[in-house]
Amino acid sequence: MKKIKIGLGARSYSVFIGTEILNGLPRLMDGVIEADRVAIVTDSLIGGLYLESLKWGLREAGIESCEIIISAGEEHKDLATIETIFDNLIAQDWDRWSPLIALGGGIVGDITGFAAASFMRGIPYIQVPTTLLAMVDSSVGGKTGVNHPRGKNLIGAFYQPRLVAADVGTLKSLPPVEIVAAMAEVIKYGMIGDAELFDYLETHLEKVLEADKTALMHVIARCCEIKAAIVEEDEREAGIRAILNFGHTIGHAIEQAGEYRTFRHGEAVALGMIAATELSHRLGYCKGDVPERLKTILHRAGLPERVKLSPADILKAVKIDKKRTGTQINFIFVDSIGKAFIKPFELENYLDKLTQFSIFR
Ligand SMILES: NC(=O)c1ccc[n+]([C@@H]2O[C@H](COP(=O)([O-])OP(=O)(O)OC[C@H]3O[C@@H](n4cnc5c(N)ncnc54)[C@H](O)[C@@H]3O)[C@@H](O)[C@H]2O)c1
Ligand SMILES: [Zn+2]
Repeated sequence: MKKIKIGLGARSYSVFIGTEILNGLPRLMDGVIEADRVAIVTDSLIGGLYLESLKWGLREAGIESCEIIISAGEEHKDLATIETIFDNLIAQDWDRWSPLIALGGGIVGDITGFAAASFMRGIPYIQVPTTLLAMVDSSVGGKTGVNHPRGKNLIGAFYQPRLVAADVGTLKSLPPVEIVAAMAEVIKYGMIGDAELFDYLETHLEKVLEADKTALMHVIARCCEIKAAIVEEDEREAGIRAILNFGHTIGHAIEQAGEYRTFRHGEAVALGMIAATELSHRLGYCKGDVPERLKTILHRAGLPERVKLSPADILKAVKIDKKRTGTQINFIFVDSIGKAFIKPFELENYLDKLTQFSIFR
């Protein structure tokens, strides 16, 4: 089992990555959370697979548990689901000391975290991520929230979990497309923070895609360490944390221009990373074979390399996004594999060059 500390002073916590973690959760809670009851938030699909195992361990340790089953899918990541959770907790006379456990992917994690942040002004919660994306990204760092009809993740809070417990055994049942999409974020960590991780992926990619436990544990732990270092420096994204958005400016625009139907988030991020790396190369920020190495690994992972939208469509979506968030575009460039930097950049001045990028060919 691997253990990574997220050092945030009084809000510090550990991320455990291993096997047999579901039924052994009480051991990890020991000394961190004193609770004689917990409420597990999950969706019916994940609940059907892993709820029993989690409950068994809790029961053995004398911890009472109940479950709150929410509807799966991004369309239910909304305030109505938060209200359902509150109704359940209130009906059970929930107190401020008993934790919520998020058992599931990023959707369940974001919803549960936000419910925990706001119920009685904040109750403890534990992340038990069951998707690769949740293990490497959403369960760590304390961004919680739900969508509004006018935009994704518009309502939320920074609220750190007390514990993250990732059981890589759960990834066996995850559809391969979900592993592939999450690989875009894994490759992102290599690009922005660790040339060694990138090398490891180049040599062990197949093992990771097959959900080999040893390879997965290594990769997830490295991603969490990189994210930890960034979040420790800038918990609330005042600066450096934005580096985690590498590939996301154009990626989000691709997602939006395709109305979230054409590409999954990870696929759009893969395309965004290619564009950002080619842009870095054209501007002379990165040299040599960096774009080629990135494209090769994305291709091997089964991620897309081409988009049917036009650069003008994408630029329009970038502008809408900028208007909504009210920020200047701080674009993330790469310097070399493992090193990225943030720089204000006016993408619209670059429309003619954008058409030359390989994703549009
Ligand atoms: N908070 C953050 O920092 C952060 C970061 C990135 C993404 N996110 C959010 O995460 C969400 C996406 O998360 P996701 O990719 O994990 O998707 P998800 O939560 O929708 O899970 C994907 C699908 O897999 C199913 N599933 C989950 N675990 C499974 C398992 N072990 N076996 C079989 N099926 C399983 C789920 O029921 C779901 O249908 C988005 O809402 C996004 O906004 C948050
Ligand atoms: Zn992402």
